[in-house]
Amino acid sequence: MHPAERRWFWISTSLVAVMGVLIVYTAAAMRIHPPSNVETIDSTRLHLTPEFAEDRLGVESRADGSVVVRLVMARYSVHPQEIMVPAGKPLVIRAASADVLHGLHVAGTNIGTQVVPGYVSEVHTTISFESVAKVGANSDGSVTVPLYCNEYCGPGHQSMWGRVKVVRQ
Ligand code: CUA
Repeated sequence: MHPAERRWFWISTSLVAVMGVLIVYTAAAMRIHPPSNVETIDSTRLHLTPEFAEDRLGVESRADGSVVVRLVMARYSVHPQEIMVPAGKPLVIRAASADVLHGLHVAGTNIGTQVVPGYVSEVHTTISFESVAKVGANSDGSVTVPLYCNEYCGPGHQSMWGRVKVVRQ
């Protein structure tokens, strides 16, 4: 084998190894996992579904103490635009797109998923008050962090955002 070829063999092999280690590290230490929910929905009829009709959106507490958040993302807004959730409690985010591909990212948390038309995106997490508190605090002791669309979805993409108010329980 030519020395240059050997060198590039080792460089590319180490890059693959570094990326493999990073995937394991971010999953174990930073709780970053690819969302894996496969559930289909008719994006053109979200408003007629029992779950994503306008009066069903927002935050709902379940009997077992967990909290469900239902969001609809549509060019160029997030519905509802502001939600209030407790820190330290199991949280299920369920999001659907009414039109094109959007992304859902909440600053200071591990909430990050694509919102693909035709599917329901689901994220299971527990928000740590300490990690969102690094982003910004309110005078009442809660923390408000921004929620962004992070997939380019059209000319109004940069104004597609919301707020998540995190309260300590
Ligand atoms: Cu929605 Cu970018």
